[in-house]
Amino acid sequence: MIGRLNHVAIAVPDLAEAARRYREMLGAEVGPPQDEPDHGVRVVFITLPNTKIELLEPLGDASPIRGFLEKNPSGGIHHICYEVDDIIAAREHLLATGARVLGGGEPKIGAHGKPVLFLHPRDFNGTLIELEEA
Ligand code: CO
Repeated sequence: MIGRLNHVAIAVPDLAEAARRYREMLGAEVGPPQDEPDHGVRVVFITLPNTKIELLEPLGDASPIRGFLEKNPSGGIHHICYEVDDIIAAREHLLATGARVLGGGEPKIGAHGKPVLFLHPRDFNGTLIELEEA
């Protein structure tokens, strides 16, 4: 059911500094910062030949990544995103096989303008999984 790795998301305490490191030290193609108020994050996309990296900084007091950064003050891998062809069919399969879909199970529009869902990390070895309709 899952297809390509769409991106790996890394929560960071200082987005400008993290973007600078990827640009200057790793020589990566780094995009401009984008605010995603619906998700409580400010994002920078890094385009690699085979996937993307998303650097995430909290946006607003209720940001869902604030708690993560309190536990991991220097940042860390926050989630990985797999592509699926049909997000509703994927959700139905996951629910039928006993997985927990976060946020009531209704897809939200993600940072790439496509519907996304998140799966409970306890069901997948401590990894927060995002599914994005390709
Ligand atoms: Co993501």
